[in-house]
Amino acid sequence: MGEKILVTGGTGYIGSHTVVELQQSGFEVVVIDNLSNSTATIIEQIGRISGKKPRFYELDLCNEAALRVFFRENYDLTGVIHFAAFKAVGESVESPLKYYHNNLVSLLNLLRFMEEFETNNFVFSSSCTVYGQPNELPVTELAPIKKAFSPYGNTKQISEEIIEDTVVSAGLRAILLRYFNPIGAHESGLIGELPIGIPNNLVPFITQTAIGKRQKLMVFGNDYDTPDGTAIRDYIHVVDLAKAHVVAIDRLLKGDNKKNLEVFNLGTGKGTSVMEAILAFERVTGMKLPYEITSRRTGDVPRVWADTTLANLKLGWRAEKSLDEMMASAWRWEKNLAAGILES
Ligand code: WQD
Repeated sequence: MGEKILVTGGTGYIGSHTVVELQQSGFEVVVIDNLSNSTATIIEQIGRISGKKPRFYELDLCNEAALRVFFRENYDLTGVIHFAAFKAVGESVESPLKYYHNNLVSLLNLLRFMEEFETNNFVFSSSCTVYGQPNELPVTELAPIKKAFSPYGNTKQISEEIIEDTVVSAGLRAILLRYFNPIGAHESGLIGELPIGIPNNLVPFITQTAIGKRQKLMVFGNDYDTPDGTAIRDYIHVVDLAKAHVVAIDRLLKGDNKKNLEVFNLGTGKGTSVMEAILAFERVTGMKLPYEITSRRTGDVPRVWADTTLANLKLGWRAEKSLDEMMASAWRWEKNLAAGILES
């Protein structure tokens, strides 16, 4: 069995897909999750895909005593990939303190114990939200960090600063991965996005509308300065994103990192509008999606997509899956959810 890696938030959407890719690349994986936004059934599903259930600890990273016990039991960890955080933009505006406490205290505890137990390789789940509305597109890692639109986005910016300072002082080696818009699901249809309540994000709202859970999709504005008037994003398949995490932790374990802190954009490098996403879903499923154009959503940026040159050249990683594959896999997962796949 290969190197032992901790994945925090490993029963979550991107976390679970990353656990599968790590296991299939020969790593031993342990998972910490407090199940505040996911279910332990996902551990079973991961085992069905990879043939091995990861060791799972139901634990809150904000619980210092419990985390110390975990690190004592897992003193042989060689790296950490940190996903666990609250991530609903709207909720963070309503409950900022909940977001600052959870997202920052969990990171601080994790980094402190990593230093104490000499686990020095760290991959952090960051976000393109740190760029706000970039001045130039596609946006590169050198683009200025803009004032966050939400407390959630601000926790990502503050987290990046904490990690940058820790790298300097504590001999930590870290890679920050700035995600664009992860969508889709594993081809097995056994894991995928599990929004609790009304989805904030576009694609789960599309699939829930198509399955009949939602009456119609609201398109938040078609008066943007874009070809079809709807906002543009860089949608990336969650499995492509997961594979990038394996490449990143492997880079650190092998000492191939050129600096103790590296930052990479993870996108496709292609911008897709809301209408183009809807048309892709209709093309792939043969369905007609009911939608209504409504007003813009506060906090949305009109246009953002990634310059992925650094990740392509330095990580040797490139997103491979098409928008149609993203939509087809998202739809397969929604149909499996409706068929009770997580209840069986
Ligand atoms: C995409 C587009 C909406 C829902 C999210 C996270 C952010 C980051 C990136 C993690 C926008 C439009 C949406 C709907 C719509 N992820 N839309 N109707 O806002 O780009 O950011 O992913 O760090 O934190 O919030 O993604 O899927 O919410 O929106 O028209 O019902 O779809 O206006 O243009 P977003 P999204």
